[in-house]
Amino acid sequence: MKGVLSVKMLAALALVLLVFGATDGRILSKCELKEELEAAQIPVIRAMGNKMTVDDLIAKLVCMASASGFNTSYVKAIPAKPKAPVIRQLYGVFQLSDQLACDSGMKPSLNVCNMSCSALIDDDVTDDIACLKTMISSM
Ligand SMILES: *[C@@H]1O[C@H](CO)[C@@H](O)[C@H](O)[C@H]1NC(C)=O
Ligand SMILES: *[C@@H]1O[C@H](CO)[C@@H](O)[C@H](O)[C@H]1NC(C)=O
Repeated sequence: MKGVLSVKMLAALALVLLVFGATDGRILSKCELKEELEAAQIPVIRAMGNKMTVDDLIAKLVCMASASGFNTSYVKAIPAKPKAPVIRQLYGVFQLSDQLACDSGMKPSLNVCNMSCSALIDDDVTDDIACLKTMISSM
């Protein structure tokens, strides 16, 4: 009986750790992100220039993600001027905008990716990459 209880308690503890751990975000490795980007087959579009290759594009996107510290839970508020009220927030490793990419429910957004901004700050980057791909395709 005692054994069963402690197994349950361990399971509950693991769940708590999982839930609270998720709020801290996950730090992706560059290689992990690169692999995810490669798997997503993001198209190179003409607006990126004639010389852009898929490898160049992926390198640029990894570089862009480095501004978030590869943190899947990254959120940054951008005020119009220092100390002014926040006008937009950027979400996730690719710092996608709540005026353009996703809907935070707090301000008008084009919501190009038709998704809630909160989905961009969970541990799963596949939806972030899907949104990035949608944004690029809609350019
Ligand atoms: C990731 O970003 C979130 C929100 O900006 C922050 O609270 C968290 O501490 C960051 N995680 C790490 C490991 O830096
Ligand atoms: C947006 O997402 C909602 C729910 O996920 C779906 O019902 C709706 O059809 C989507 N709209 C577009 C334009 O894709």
